[in-house]
Amino acid sequence: MASEKPYILVTGATGFIGAHVVDELLRRNIKVRAATRSLEKGESLKAARPKYTELLDIVQVTDFSEPTSLLDAVKDVTGVIHVASPFTFNVTDNEKELIKPALAGVRAILEAAAENSNVKRIVITSSFASVVDVNRTAPPRFEYTAKDWNPLSYEESVAKETSPVIAYRGSKKFAELEAWKFVEEKKPGFDIVTLCPPMVFGPVVHPLSKVEDLNESNASLWKVASGQEFPAARVPFWVDVRDLAVAHVEALLRPEAGGKRYTVTSPEKYSYGLVADIIKEEFPSIKDRIAAGNQPVVDTHDLDGHTAAKELGVKYTGFKQTVKDFVEEALSLEKANLTK
Ligand SMILES: NC(=O)c1ccc[n+]([C@@H]2O[C@H](COP(=O)([O-])OP(=O)(O)OC[C@H]3O[C@@H](n4cnc5c(N)ncnc54)[C@H](OP(=O)(O)O)[C@@H]3O)[C@@H](O)[C@H]2O)c1
Repeated sequence: MASEKPYILVTGATGFIGAHVVDELLRRNIKVRAATRSLEKGESLKAARPKYTELLDIVQVTDFSEPTSLLDAVKDVTGVIHVASPFTFNVTDNEKELIKPALAGVRAILEAAAENSNVKRIVITSSFASVVDVNRTAPPRFEYTAKDWNPLSYEESVAKETSPVIAYRGSKKFAELEAWKFVEEKKPGFDIVTLCPPMVFGPVVHPLSKVEDLNESNASLWKVASGQEFPAARVPFWVDVRDLAVAHVEALLRPEAGGKRYTVTSPEKYSYGLVADIIKEEFPSIKDRIAAGNQPVVDTHDLDGHTAAKELGVKYTGFKQTVKDFVEEALSLEKANLTK
């Protein structure tokens, strides 16, 4: 990035990952503009960070499913971390609710940034969803790396009969491809870095008033902690949200990361059975409500987290710590709501 003082726009700043990215930037005394659809959420993000009033401002953006321009949001900033994208499986129209907004968000941010010559780098939160090929099975053992792309076609992603889980994978793939294509064709004054994390877990620092509103990935952990059946384990890969936030900021700051795509993942693997075991051991007071059963950890293939560790300096948190930190907080939220 340029040597001038960084001022970074973070989209999706009032979401699970985005708020951690905001905090990681603030911790380093970097000025942040946090973009959100809801000014109320934006103000509550700011109010929860009284130490950083001078370093944090909020900008409201419209939903990406409506025609939007992000020109005002990128004004004066020197870099962008584009986190915002729909991540929910609770949709009825794959194309309208997942794929089009994901694409529109990436296009709007790149087009706006291309008008601001101070923007030198854009980091985009893609996903392992844009990497995974569900038809690839072990044995023999194999390792996914940042070179892999999911083979879904656009038509398959948007089809009515396609499940939202698969459509989401399409939304991440096509939005990421759009970004790489933009840079190649338009040759803007910035480069991009894309990060492809698998399931992201960890404590919540964004505005949230009840456990029912948890983001999609943490909601799966909460299912186990609240005594529901174990969710289906789609992948055994995960990363702690705090480590992912470090990866975003390092990807923004390290000149040599420009033009690269990283898979950011812990070397440990997980299953919801393992989550249940950790909760039973660490939280004896809710031990009895955890569903019986067993879900083994699938350890037949790998995902490369070493490259991100080496090139972005990420040190991965252990799974037990992540689960503990999340459950502790979710339980206090549950308690606070019950006593209201
Ligand atoms: N959590 C994971 O396991 C995981 C794994 C891999 C990749 N990712 C990616 O990480 C990013 C953040 O996800 P998250 O887990 O933090 O989920 P989240 O808490 O639901 O956050 C999503 C963010 O995107 C914004 N957003 C969603 N739909 C939008 C739309 N139609 N128009 C404008 N903004 C929209 C939301 O804005 P508001 O705050 O204004 O509501 C929110 O801040 C997404 O790109 C997701 O694909 C997540």
